[in-house]
Amino acid sequence: MKNLKIRNLKIRYKITLWYASLLLILLVVFNIFIYMIISGILNQSVKGFLKSDARQVFSIIQSEGYNVHFDIPYKIIDTNTYFVIFDVNGNAGFKSKILPEIVNLPVGQEQLRYVSINKVKWIVYDTPVLNNGNVIGWIRVSRSLQYITDALLNLKIIMFISVPLYMFLASLGGLFLANRALKPIDYITKTAQEISKGDLSQRLKLNKTEDEVGRLAVTFDEMLDKLEASIKKERQFASDASHELRTPISVITAQAEQALSGKRKVKEYKEAFEIVYNESKKMNHIISQLLMISRSDEGTYSFNFEILELNMIMEDIVKEFQNIAIQKDIQISFKSETAVKIKADQTLLTRLFINLIDNAIKYTNKGGKINISINKENNYSIIIIEDTGIGISEEDMPYIFDRLYQVDKSRSDRGTGLGLSIAKWIADLHKGELKVESKLNSGSKFIVRLPLNT
Ligand SMILES: Nc1ncnc2c1ncn2[C@@H]1O[C@H](COP(=O)(O)OP(=O)(O)O)[C@@H](O)[C@H]1O
Ligand SMILES: [Mg+2]
Repeated sequence: MKNLKIRNLKIRYKITLWYASLLLILLVVFNIFIYMIISGILNQSVKGFLKSDARQVFSIIQSEGYNVHFDIPYKIIDTNTYFVIFDVNGNAGFKSKILPEIVNLPVGQEQLRYVSINKVKWIVYDTPVLNNGNVIGWIRVSRSLQYITDALLNLKIIMFISVPLYMFLASLGGLFLANRALKPIDYITKTAQEISKGDLSQRLKLNKTEDEVGRLAVTFDEMLDKLEASIKKERQFASDASHELRTPISVITAQAEQALSGKRKVKEYKEAFEIVYNESKKMNHIISQLLMISRSDEGTYSFNFEILELNMIMEDIVKEFQNIAIQKDIQISFKSETAVKIKADQTLLTRLFINLIDNAIKYTNKGGKINISINKENNYSIIIIEDTGIGISEEDMPYIFDRLYQVDKSRSDRGTGLGLSIAKWIADLHKGELKVESKLNSGSKFIVRLPLNT
């Protein structure tokens, strides 16, 4: 069964409903107000007429020498006004055509009365006839209120017909406007449905407007751009990563095949095993880096932050690299002015420095130099790893921190292109940053900034 709760209605109907309800309240209040004003004015005016009629009758009596029993020319007063003249004892004298019920009302004081006779309302006004301050008789004037009742009834009918009509027209207009305003949203929904079926290249491309819907559409498109780019990157990464793993595996397979294809000498087996061993070490390295990256993406890497003495960590790492550097005839020097303490995960921090120093050695030719320094600046420790190596061209600069990006595969055969992206992730994770300055053929300078433990 369909649920007909208001909150389940389409927005366009909701808006229209609210709008119509508000209009209904306003119209009703407004109409009541108008009705009251008009009925007030009509009643006020009839009272005014009645009093001026009474004055007219009085002035005729006055001009006739206060003879209340004379014949008043009937036509001189408003034909809608009926009157009767009483003597001081309340006996009716001359009268116009007037209902006996009105004549029979008691007389004796100045007053304004409303009476209902045969369902018709009358207004009755009594006023004394004064001669030198003495009451010598009474004038009673009366008017039927039928025309006011009729006029007000007509007004009521008009109001009762016009309110629903206004409501109907306003709702129609409101629905039309709501429909127009909400149309782009329907379009957005439809497009989003299509996109969710798998076509990420679709865009709304609505005409740019500064209204709410226009901004929504632009934001939606921008979000899709980012989403598409990141998914593309993700797919590229997956395919590059498998490709990366395939190379050592094909080497291993080839070696094994060759070794098994006939009788070989012990020396040849040994050579084959050495190659297999090296290649599997390479694979191991790649896989552990990939694992680190995927854990960093998932956010499942378990950290262990502790307060570390940067100089000591760096000294150990430099010592580890000393042998390789000597083999390549590269001088490594490490300088630090002060003791620097930071809060960090030791494994990750070590990985960060190893990746940078490993690159510096790899991309520096024989006889080159690597200078490492640690300093303090404001609330940061600045770690600089500078080499006199082959440098990085301006075109490559924007990409070197990308996953699997390698400037030249042939010049870094041991690498995977993951080192710098991991290093950057570690720096970011520690609320620091990793930057590079480099010039082709004259060396590179990697700068790490990490917040001090204060
Ligand atoms: N110190 C450096 N000197 C020159 N080029 C560098 C240096 N460090 C990194 N690069 C360039 O940046 C690329 C990406 O580095 P990295 O992510 O560590 O991958 P790789 O596994 O190739 O070392 C490298 O292929 C290399 O061309
Ligand atoms: Mg590297």
